[in-house]
Amino acid sequence: MTDRLTIPRPDDMHLHLRDGAMLAGVLPETARHFGRAIIMPNLVPPVVTMAGAQAYRARIMAALPKDADFTPLMTLYLTEGTDAADVAAAHAAGVIHAVKLYPAGATTNSHGGVRDVTRVLPVLEKMAEIGLPLCIHNEVTDPEVDIFDREAVFIDTVLDPLRRRLPSLRVVMEHITTSQGVDYARTGGDNLAATITTHHLIINRNHILSGGIKPHYYCLPVAKRESHRLALRQAATSGEARFFLGTDSAPHIDALKEHSCGCAGCFTATNTMPLLAHVFEELDALDRLAGFTSRFGAAFYRLPVSEKTLILSKSDTATIWPEKLDTGAGPVTIFNPGFPVFWQVTP
Ligand code: NCD
Ligand code: ZN
Repeated sequence: MTDRLTIPRPDDMHLHLRDGAMLAGVLPETARHFGRAIIMPNLVPPVVTMAGAQAYRARIMAALPKDADFTPLMTLYLTEGTDAADVAAAHAAGVIHAVKLYPAGATTNSHGGVRDVTRVLPVLEKMAEIGLPLCIHNEVTDPEVDIFDREAVFIDTVLDPLRRRLPSLRVVMEHITTSQGVDYARTGGDNLAATITTHHLIINRNHILSGGIKPHYYCLPVAKRESHRLALRQAATSGEARFFLGTDSAPHIDALKEHSCGCAGCFTATNTMPLLAHVFEELDALDRLAGFTSRFGAAFYRLPVSEKTLILSKSDTATIWPEKLDTGAGPVTIFNPGFPVFWQVTP
């Protein structure tokens, strides 16, 4: 039985850090275990220019604990007004590592996103030319489409046509939640990848809705039925380099989660690595954890694998995390998997 695992320091290829007091509160949780993270740009207002990304990066660096070993990988929020030349300049200067496409209205702070993908084609063409990845929130926003079908419909009606039109564009399907997402990711070559969150490997829609509504399990894309969770677990532990970790850790204060119109997002920055060790062990795939958390994402983003390491160890007593993280913005509930976890990160 393996009870100790040493892996290269992991990367979180999809992370929400927010700003101000929330940023200061949540950043140490990620920086403790992760060496790098792709930072989502959906602030209010969003990060839409190279100058905006530089300024946000500086705020993150200023909020980092002194001894931290963490590099934020910045992104730009794509709008129908995005300037292809600014994107190219930001990439050439090493300021950004990706551009994020939110269909307008799909999720938290996405109203300024893209309504019609054809309007951003000049930017996407430039990105294809320079090899800059596009991270996509894969959900249609059509109110006629059932919320549990929005990912599958997006793949058929938006993503696949876009990739046929621009086959050289490098695309990351963010936080896939369905077997259709897994299957579609497998149809691509080297220029298509998919991130998978920690929580989508653990919960299905029953966890959100059965036996009382659980707002802290509500996120977007919403967790689907069990067969989809099983497909995600198979993909994450398959050892295929196209699937890698993006936690989508998305903090909201409790008052906005436990609300008549609660915000979407699960906060997993604190306990992601022990939870993943638990899941990978359950599937007899501990030897594949390092690929998923520390190698495949780096390879896709053309970054070196970290030379630092993270040690996970398993003990006989369950690891206890606080129920909440106190941030200057208010309390944030830490994702509770609902079962005991015996793994921990060795300090
Ligand atoms: C994210 C957030 O709160 O910013 N919420 C979420 O449920 N995942 C936005 C997103 O990534 O969809
Ligand atoms: Zn997200």
